[in-house]
Amino acid sequence: MHIDIITVVPELLASPLSHSIMKRAQDKGILTVQTHNLRQWAVNKYGQVDDYQFGGGAGMVMMCEPLANAIEHLQKERPYDEIIYMTPDGERFKQSTANQLSLKENLLIICGHYKGIDQRIREHFVTKEISIGDYVLSGGELAANVVIDAIGRLLPGVLNDETSALTDSFQDNLLAPPVYTRPAEFRGWKVPEVLLSGNPKTIEEWRYEQSVERTKERRPDILD
Ligand code: ADE
Repeated sequence: MHIDIITVVPELLASPLSHSIMKRAQDKGILTVQTHNLRQWAVNKYGQVDDYQFGGGAGMVMMCEPLANAIEHLQKERPYDEIIYMTPDGERFKQSTANQLSLKENLLIICGHYKGIDQRIREHFVTKEISIGDYVLSGGELAANVVIDAIGRLLPGVLNDETSALTDSFQDNLLAPPVYTRPAEFRGWKVPEVLLSGNPKTIEEWRYEQSVERTKERRPDILD
C-alpha cells in the first residue's frame, strides 16, 4: 500500500512512522508513506497557503489553489482509491473503516489546519472525510497518524503473529478479553486457573465469555 499525505507540518507525522510496527511495515516494503509539504504549492514567495474566511470570523482557511495543485500533481503519479480529508466533522473512524481501507492500494490523506480547508476542495476532490473522535485537534496530522497506524498493522505480513490483528478489540464487535503473563502469581494475585489448564477449547470459551462480559459492561453500544 502507498499513502501520500499533504500537510503544512510534515515533522508532526515523522516520529510515529519511524518506529515499531509502522517502521517494520515500511522496512519490509509492505507500506510506503510519503509526506508532501503544501507550501511547495504556495501562492506566493512567502509560502502562503491560507487566507481569511469570506463572511468574516476568526481563523484562517486553507486555500483552494495550493491544495488543488498539490492533489493534481500527485494524481499524475498514481490513481487514488480514496482521497481522505481528516476533519472533526467527518465520519467517525472505526475498526471497520480501518479494515476496509487496508484493502486499498493508494490513499491520499489531506491534513487540515486552522479553520480547515476551503469547502470546494472537499466537494470536488475529497472522497472520504474521517474524524477520529468528538474533539478538535490543532491539525489533522495526529489523526492521520492514528488512521495510518490502524490500517498499516492490518496489512498482510506486517504483524509477526498473523492472527494477532484478528483477536484485537473491535474485530467482531467485541472488546478483547483480559491478558496475563508470567509469573502465574504476583503478590498473591493469581492468573485465572483456566489459562493454565492447557486446554485450548476451554480457554477459547473463557476468553469469549470475558469478551462478551467486558463489552456488555463497557461498550454495550457496539454489541450486535
Ligand atoms: N482535525 C482536527 N480534529 C480532528 C479530529 N477529531 N479528527 C480528525 N481530524 C481532525
